[in-house]
Amino acid sequence: MKDKDYSRLFAEFEGVEADLIPVLVRIQERDGYISEEAVRRVSRFLRLSENQIYGVASFYPKFRFTEPGKKSIKVCMGTACHVRGGLFLSEAVGWQLGVGIGQTTADKRFDFQRAGCLGCCTLAPVVMVNEDVHSRMSVIRLKEILEKDD
Ligand code: FES
Repeated sequence: MKDKDYSRLFAEFEGVEADLIPVLVRIQERDGYISEEAVRRVSRFLRLSENQIYGVASFYPKFRFTEPGKKSIKVCMGTACHVRGGLFLSEAVGWQLGVGIGQTTADKRFDFQRAGCLGCCTLAPVVMVNEDVHSRMSVIRLKEILEKDD
């Protein structure tokens, strides 16, 4: 991101500590995640240490610090999904993609997240692929989704 892009974004704010969350929200809306560069820029703008910024931001699961993939795979780990194989699905995603939770594949095709209850427990176990909910997911169906080329 260029200097002028940050200047434009920061111009919407006063530059006080209370701006931290709104600034991070705007950056994530714009970039899809909060990069190390963004944290450095915010640190200078708000006169907060990078550790303070990570400390606050990591408290909110909505903030992400890795570039999203083209497809975002979110495995529900809420109670209903967990007892119906959510953990097994989660391990299968990590194994198949070769990435850990919160990471993006090197080719940027996928990122892998875990989530709390996605609000459709009767359909457990549930996996979200971008905004699409896939219900009663199995490892075989999951594998098909991950291998699908679109
Ligand atoms: S526990 Fe997975 S949708 Fe509720």
